[in-house]
Amino acid sequence: MATALRRYPLIIGATLAAGIAAALLLRPHPPWRAPERGAASASAVPAGGSPLSAQVREFEGSYPEAASPTGVVRDVALEAAPATLPLLDGQPLDVWAYNVQVPGPTIRVRLGERLRVTFTNRLARPTTVHWHGVRLPNAMDGVPGVTQPAVPPGGTFVYEFVPKDAGTFWFHPHLRSSEQVERGLYGVLVVEDPVPPPYSRDIVWVLDDWRIREGAIDPQFNTPHDLMHDGRWGNVITVNGSIDERLTVRPGERIRLRLLNAANGRVFAPDFSGLDARVISVDGLYTAKPLDPAGFELAPGNRIDLDITIPASAAGRQFSVVDRFTRRPNALASIDVSQGAAVRTPAFPSPAAAHVAPWRDTEAIAPRLEYRLAARRGGEFGIEWTLNGAAARHAHDTEASTAEGDGHEVSVLPRREWSKLRFVNDSGRLHPIHLHGMFFKVLSRNGRPADEPFFRDTVLVHGRETVDVGVVPLDEGRWMLHCHILEHAEAGMMSLLDVKSM
Ligand code: C2O
Ligand code: CU
Repeated sequence: MATALRRYPLIIGATLAAGIAAALLLRPHPPWRAPERGAASASAVPAGGSPLSAQVREFEGSYPEAASPTGVVRDVALEAAPATLPLLDGQPLDVWAYNVQVPGPTIRVRLGERLRVTFTNRLARPTTVHWHGVRLPNAMDGVPGVTQPAVPPGGTFVYEFVPKDAGTFWFHPHLRSSEQVERGLYGVLVVEDPVPPPYSRDIVWVLDDWRIREGAIDPQFNTPHDLMHDGRWGNVITVNGSIDERLTVRPGERIRLRLLNAANGRVFAPDFSGLDARVISVDGLYTAKPLDPAGFELAPGNRIDLDITIPASAAGRQFSVVDRFTRRPNALASIDVSQGAAVRTPAFPSPAAAHVAPWRDTEAIAPRLEYRLAARRGGEFGIEWTLNGAAARHAHDTEASTAEGDGHEVSVLPRREWSKLRFVNDSGRLHPIHLHGMFFKVLSRNGRPADEPFFRDTVLVHGRETVDVGVVPLDEGRWMLHCHILEHAEAGMMSLLDVKSM
């Protein structure tokens, strides 16, 4: 059972013709290296003069190198402030919120549009906004002390970029996030396809858990217990802030359901059995084919998009969605089908038809970077989480001068070249490793080739496990690599990657 959950079952049967049709219809991106100035020769032969590696050739067409701006600008005002909101079971809860909502507003843009977010900090603490999973200019990445100074109380910062990928992303603070995210600061960024597939509706479910004591968010953060384990796991689980989220649909509808795990530490394995549900996108990028969601581990930071068809015959039925990551299942939400006549099910090929670099037979290639994940006693919290024996300095959000960039190790990754990164977990705990500014593909787990027909930005590394990933970074800059269990990150499990043209 445990092993079954760990492997990601694939579905055979998406027809090639439908796949190509969908690719043409819905993913009109240019190949990733096409739009660059002088790119044809520059990317065909890397700086060293060696021929393009097989892995880089396989990568071509996976996702575009540059954005294709349409000229449209979307202006959004975003404000972080304390608020009291009816959440969980509907009782008032003191939170920190974006635009007085938890989850924060879902920001929607079309691919090619420029998003301009004027952010105001009305918290009593410094903060930043990080755009998780979005490939954007490094200066917009929201990492204090690395890409920008923290936004002080009362301060503002304008985030402006044209997303390069259509998909489900999210935003959250990158300073003392174990507290700031836990108190409710997170929201979803949906980048729609230029021509969105004609789903009956497009829904966002943000999964989170809360540690509630006497009707309030437990104010003890980064406790020794949380640090020794898999971070802060709450005692109340919510979807869109509610313990009883219900999505009412009509029979026959075809729904795009976007799931985000915004929890500090909890992993979810959502069970949609009983429903015709297929994963079409992981961490914001379409998969190569539709996949069975059974057993998918949605770690902190991960997103999956599902393509769900409600049977025409399901009028009056109720489908409950349950989390099966832990031994005891947790009810997440329910999909209630209304009575009445069925609507016509929109018929179109699955958009899950992306080109995903196969990168097979790469076991023999040495990793360019290897990270050993471990813990030791010491540091501000009594326990430090380390990458190769180094713990990054903790973020102190009580001083405006705080920089998450202090005391970090910096490694170099050559831009437009293929690199293997290896994560060796010397601990028994979970570590969802997240890279900013790039997508990677899991190559193997414990030396056994993985068969994941998709890219990710966050991969869950289990206790004592070794995970190899492949990546072709396209964007220059200083990008974070860290555990997305926010307590582990704050206790040191953060590092930096300099992506440079060599
Ligand atoms: Cu959601 Cu540095 O990450
Ligand atoms: Cu971790």
